[in-house]
Amino acid sequence: MRINHSGEVAAQGLYQGQALTARLPQVRDKMQRAAQEENDHLAWCEHRLKQMGTHTSYLNPLWYLGSVAIGAAAGIAGDKWSLGFVAETEHQVVRHLDEHLSRLPSQDGKSRAILEQMRVDEGQHATHALDGGGVPLPEPIRKVMSLTSKVMTRTAYWI
Ligand SMILES: [Fe+2]
Ligand SMILES: [Fe+2]
Repeated sequence: MRINHSGEVAAQGLYQGQALTARLPQVRDKMQRAAQEENDHLAWCEHRLKQMGTHTSYLNPLWYLGSVAIGAAAGIAGDKWSLGFVAETEHQVVRHLDEHLSRLPSQDGKSRAILEQMRVDEGQHATHALDGGGVPLPEPIRKVMSLTSKVMTRTAYWI
């Protein structure tokens, strides 16, 4: 859950960074609505971590700042890239959630309920981003993104 929480911290940064630089007003609105849902995800994960008596990742400020920068850069690259970036990010998040759900202990119904709702929302964020004109990202960028998220998930597990 600490990993999922860090992911949601990063999501806040990405969406806020993009909202800063998005050109089309309707794109900016969509980003802000998605950011609102990410806010819910963040709160659910944080609440669940507290229930389980553990801390959030100490590296979260780092993930947050890095994500604002990446989100702003994606926004500057243009709305179609920025939406493509959202779609790719959310697809990767859905894959991560699927994997996490498959390993979650069957008695942990509370975490399961949170993750399943997040999975639905993230899938919709991806669909909206593509409907809004997002384009598929080049393979090397997708690779870098998945590497970055690997670093984040590994470190958030421990610290
Ligand atoms: Fe989320
Ligand atoms: Fe999302």
